[in-house]
Amino acid sequence: MSETSSPLLLSTGAEIRAAILAARSNGETIGLVPTMGALHAGHVSLVRTAKAECDRVVATVFVNPTQFGPQEDFNRYPRDLERDRALLAEAGCDWVFAPSTDEMYPLGSDTMVHVGAAAAEWEGRIRPTHFAGVATVVLKLFNLAPANRAYFGRKDYQQTVVVRQMVSDLNVPIDIVICPTVREPDGLAMSSRNAYLSPTERQHATALRRSLLAAEELVAIGESDVEVIRARMESVLVDVDHVQYIAFLRDGAMESVDRIAGPTVIALAAKVGATRLIDNTLVGD
Ligand code: PAF
Repeated sequence: MSETSSPLLLSTGAEIRAAILAARSNGETIGLVPTMGALHAGHVSLVRTAKAECDRVVATVFVNPTQFGPQEDFNRYPRDLERDRALLAEAGCDWVFAPSTDEMYPLGSDTMVHVGAAAAEWEGRIRPTHFAGVATVVLKLFNLAPANRAYFGRKDYQQTVVVRQMVSDLNVPIDIVICPTVREPDGLAMSSRNAYLSPTERQHATALRRSLLAAEELVAIGESDVEVIRARMESVLVDVDHVQYIAFLRDGAMESVDRIAGPTVIALAAKVGATRLIDNTLVGD
């Protein structure tokens, strides 16, 4: 399929499964990019990476209700399938799987996937039902669209750890590929939720990236005490309304460290106005 032809839009699990199994039986490899739509350059880069590494790419567009808490933005989450399809066409995507909620969760659905320690802290504490929703929908997508590789962005670091844990624990035959965070020119990590920010909030939101850069600079000059690094980050984060957490985690896991003594992810969540933003960086690598 050429880079500009529109990807085939499929809305039932049976259709996408049949398309993928037929391609796989011809020896083609399949890359899967799960999304909730409202696509941005970060998603496009996942599709382009998948396209470079696999014969065919399927992107899923589904705003998954089970990963939103009752007070969260499920209803106002941006939805624009035609715009998403145009972006996916440009990126060389072959199939778009955009199921309805009834297709994904038919009446009577009553099984959820609960990942343990990897999902418990940080995002998991603030959004207690979130990762069960993510793990459940991701496993369902892996079953409906049985790809060789699935592509996730590193911005949602804890999500990548949770998905890897689930795939390993449940013996799911798929390779998980984690791709770098794509940023706006001023450093703000691409996120569909950036659209909620007012112009002033948008400026304040750059503090997240600036605080991570300040942390990187401290580590580069030899600082390893996470409390010193946290204090420096907090001093940069004065513009945000509420810092929810700054976590120092062994890379690839959700285990906290108190010194930077090897590859360490510094992950943070903060509220800018009513919008919750997350970001992270890898240091000590
Ligand atoms: O990262 C996301 O957009 C979602 O959590 C995902 C992986 C598509 C599951 O709904």
